[in-house]
Amino acid sequence: MFKIQRAGVTKRERGGQDHGSVSLGIQRDIYSGLSESAPKTISEKEFLKFQDLIYKEAGIWLSTVKTALLVGRLSKRLRQLELRSFAEYYNLVAEDAEERTKMLDAISTNETHFFREPAHFDLLQTKIFPRWEQEEAAGLRSRKIRVWSAGCSTGQEPYSLAMLLLERFPAAAGWEIEIVATDLSTRVLEIARNGIWDFGKASEIPDKYLEAFMLRGFGEQKGKIKAAPEIRSLIRFMRLNLNEESYPVQGPFDLVFCRNVLIYFDMHTRERILRGLLRHRSPEGYFFVGHAESLHKMADVIRSVIPTVYVTAAKAKREGHARR
Ligand SMILES: C[S@@+](CC[C@H](N)C(=O)[O-])C[C@H]1O[C@@H](n2cnc3c(N)ncnc32)[C@H](O)[C@@H]1O
Repeated sequence: MFKIQRAGVTKRERGGQDHGSVSLGIQRDIYSGLSESAPKTISEKEFLKFQDLIYKEAGIWLSTVKTALLVGRLSKRLRQLELRSFAEYYNLVAEDAEERTKMLDAISTNETHFFREPAHFDLLQTKIFPRWEQEEAAGLRSRKIRVWSAGCSTGQEPYSLAMLLLERFPAAAGWEIEIVATDLSTRVLEIARNGIWDFGKASEIPDKYLEAFMLRGFGEQKGKIKAAPEIRSLIRFMRLNLNEESYPVQGPFDLVFCRNVLIYFDMHTRERILRGLLRHRSPEGYFFVGHAESLHKMADVIRSVIPTVYVTAAKAKREGHARR
């Protein structure tokens, strides 16, 4: 049974680590990936077939310098299936949609953090939230807040937003918060849905949120933290491939986060996906990308408020944001 108890995690505890079981888990993974029976090389022809399939399925572009990455990430799956060559695995994924999903799980890069890119959270608290409050007081907006975290990985992004929003806009004051969190990978979505992470991640969360919204594991869950029900209930997780023609989510959203996802796409795919995402944002909404993702090609429809945060060109003109 999951035995967990709400706990104000102290500063000392956040610094004091309890990583024993975590690092052991990682070690096991590394060794299993290097098992003798797993193929360690791929021919150029086979690589190009995987490159094409992954691009068509997910829009992710793996250049040939990513050959070792592909081999490293798929070899564990080949070993599990007791396949001896990448050619055999290609034949399987070409025919089997379920295995294609597993392949995409294996090749996706899922690094993420709580409160990643603090400038975004500062902007929310110092500019966007006060504006919403003023607009609501003036009868210009409702008390419903809708957010989309696209490419949410293991959940740190939508849970960070849930903590920030719930603190400022409590249900007791009549506010309603809805966060839709989506990703291509079913593996990361399962972790996100469970809302359980290693205790080491607590150091990324400001104390007041940790104390208010995170639970600490005891007994067999020692060394873990878990999102409290108040924030879990705000988030709806679902698999969504941004490379699809249309998205099964219903806009408009006040905030759309698509951070550190676009970097995996080529320029053409990136622009197509961006235009699709922007259609789901409210005309008054904000669009957030990662620090390495510039949208200068989209100047016909959006303008930046600060680097990597965008509003519609019309809103920017009305509010006097410079053309960037
Ligand atoms: C590096 S993580 C970024 C997580 C989070 N947004 C952040 O900034 O911390 C990138 C995520 O994008 C997801 N992803 C990659 N291609 C995708 C696609 N075609 N559709 C949806 N998600 C995708 C990956 O599975 C991965 O979880």
